Amino acid sequence: MRSANMLDPLLEGLRAEGFSATAESAEAEPSAATIDAIAAAYRGKISIVIGLGGGSALDAAKAGAAMVPVEGGVADYLEGIGGLSHLGARLPWIACPSTAGTGSEATTNAVIRGSLPNGSTYKKSLRHSAFIPDAIVLDHDLPALAPREVAVPSALDALSQLLEAASSRKAAPLSDALAFEGIRLLGVRLDAIMSVKADEGTWRDVQYAAMFSGSALSQAGLGLVHGIAGNLGAVRRCPHGLVCGILLPEAFAVTAEALARAAGSGDRQAAIGLSRLARAGRALGAADSAMDEDEASRALIERLRGIARSAGLPRLSALGFTDAEIDSVARASSGRECFVTLGCADAHAVLKACL
Ligand SMILES: [Fe+2]
Repeated sequence: MRSANMLDPLLEGLRAEGFSATAESAEAEPSAATIDAIAAAYRGKISIVIGLGGGSALDAAKAGAAMVPVEGGVADYLEGIGGLSHLGARLPWIACPSTAGTGSEATTNAVIRGSLPNGSTYKKSLRHSAFIPDAIVLDHDLPALAPREVAVPSALDALSQLLEAASSRKAAPLSDALAFEGIRLLGVRLDAIMSVKADEGTWRDVQYAAMFSGSALSQAGLGLVHGIAGNLGAVRRCPHGLVCGILLPEAFAVTAEALARAAGSGDRQAAIGLSRLARAGRALGAADSAMDEDEASRALIERLRGIARSAGLPRLSALGFTDAEIDSVARASSGRECFVTLGCADAHAVLKACL
């Protein structure tokens, strides 16, 4: 936002309205140290936070708004790391996303990275249902400024989140309404994003799809793509959306195979999961109503592979990942809320196919 010369007009506008306004930058994927420094600098001195930027900036704003009013460091409150529960007290905050992807403007969590005393690194969530912002500003001109190498992975992160929420065992009517509509919007608009022919209507729809993905995932949870992506991101700094885009087709191929196998053995839950993938395939425009559920879920996977080819994403090895790292990432990964249990072997199959 600084480099795009968008920050100064915002600050000047706020000051002209009588606010005392200042700005902080956060690095890609904010660290616990950054959040602690921001919270310490502003504790008792500010009354509202505005998050302007991509998912990392919004996560930093969300975590800052949550940490200014409380004692201790953010790591004390992170899931799986700290021993304290955040009670949800926070400063008012407004989210203004500049990319269309993570849906952080509609989620209950902020992803924070850091390292433990033993040197191992983590990416963990600071989470509370009260962390959803007080207001969301969707300016359709902002994502149009992002270069294709940012816009495409961001949209694929949103697509991953929508598909994972749509095929989650925790899905419910409200999350379904958001997830399937978001999938439909991306099915219509992804080609324009890929070809850099997106007009204002395209960006509007993709921004809504991204926001729906954040809300849907907060309600229904996620699946195998994000059950692996966070662990890859903890090992090597690489853009979250890019990792999700790389994993997306193979993770859903492995998920669909596992669901079909279990459904074929009489697992009724797996049959529900498979029917949800088929419905997602129809929503995306990859399958039609004449196809049965096996055909529609296979058509979904083929469409995802086609999207990945069009996106021209690198392989994980090009991001520096090694066989040894893949093995350790697989051991830490899971299918999260998938209708069948997916574990190390499934994650390993996905990772090998993407390496
Ligand atoms: Fe994501």
